[in-house]
Amino acid sequence: MQAAKSEARPDMRALDATLAFVAGTADAFAWHAGLLSRWIIEAGLPQTKIGLGRDLHRLALWTEQLLQRSRELGVDINERSLRRGAAARAAAERLRSAAAAGTNVALHRALEGSLQDTVERAASQPAVLDEPTRELFAAMSASLHRAPLHRVDAEEPGLWPLREGVPAEAASLGELAGVTPGRSARLFRGTEPAQPFEPATDARASAIAFLHHNLTELELPTMESCCRLLLECDMLPWAFAADMARQCWDEARHAQAFMQRLQQLGGEVGCHAHTHQLWEMTADLPPAVRLAVHQRIGEWVGVDGALWNAERFRRLGDEATADALDFIARDEITHVAFGNRWIRWLHPSDAEVEAVAAEALKRRRAFGKPVDGPAVFPFNRWACERAGFTADEVQALEREALARGSRFERFEP
Ligand SMILES: [Fe+2]
Ligand SMILES: [Fe+2]
Repeated sequence: MQAAKSEARPDMRALDATLAFVAGTADAFAWHAGLLSRWIIEAGLPQTKIGLGRDLHRLALWTEQLLQRSRELGVDINERSLRRGAAARAAAERLRSAAAAGTNVALHRALEGSLQDTVERAASQPAVLDEPTRELFAAMSASLHRAPLHRVDAEEPGLWPLREGVPAEAASLGELAGVTPGRSARLFRGTEPAQPFEPATDARASAIAFLHHNLTELELPTMESCCRLLLECDMLPWAFAADMARQCWDEARHAQAFMQRLQQLGGEVGCHAHTHQLWEMTADLPPAVRLAVHQRIGEWVGVDGALWNAERFRRLGDEATADALDFIARDEITHVAFGNRWIRWLHPSDAEVEAVAAEALKRRRAFGKPVDGPAVFPFNRWACERAGFTADEVQALEREALARGSRFERFEP
């Protein structure tokens, strides 16, 4: 008995060590994801926000996979303690010394080094014995080699830790009172807001105004709003952070597509004025109402808008813009579903959801935002069905749509 017991002990120690390593890495990666969210909000160059959007998604996804692996090994990591453990503090400490070097480049190298070290340490950890865990880290390492982290532009104004020191406290990452999203003064010089739906006397100018409006009033601000939700709503399970990070990456690709098309047409970022309306609209609202303002209603209007505009640009002969909008519409449907999923997680009853939606509509009206897709664009029943609305909600939305009609024509196939 004695011998069997001692033979079993090393395996137990290996399991414990593996679990500790998985939990510590999840803790550190969640902290890094918080830091990237902060950088995305505060970076001034669109290219920085876009590049970091993809990295944020990778880190949030890896954190989610580590939580899942830990569950498979029999341990539920307390998701509310993520970003608050010893590994997160060690990650913060590493960044703190890099920040003392005083450049974004130094900071970025430290972040990348920290991630590389972690995933490569897994391969050399004698205690991490089981193949699925090793495979997980091997895939992360391969991803970092194939696509290194976004290189922050040397012209990017100093990122947050350089200015204020890297805090080890997780709560500091989400301390956003008084923070305004970054817009580089070098780029944003326009004084007149873009008019995305002005009658097109000049098709090119009209497309530039549309693309600029979408880039600076919708895609970039939505990335920032997702990051703020990720940082401030740490009472929710990590799956919520993963959804927000996914949306942030999707919006980053949309922003990239709009920016490229804008430049192809001879426009440039900053040729029209920008606002912070989307950021200000939900600054003081509880999480569910924010999700209703942005994802449930705003993204839903965005779905109908993208579908309608894809057809409009196709008929104008602009296939490239139309193709981009086809893909964007599919992503926006997923974003509405994220909103519906988490509003229902926070408020399971239909009556509560209705109250949340009513409060959100009130706030959108106060900011002069569209409150119902169908009143602006033609109604798309199939999109509502895929976006997580209940059957009753879809019926109610369709009834309202038919009663109101659309401001814009419906394109017949
Ligand atoms: Fe988008
Ligand atoms: Fe979206």
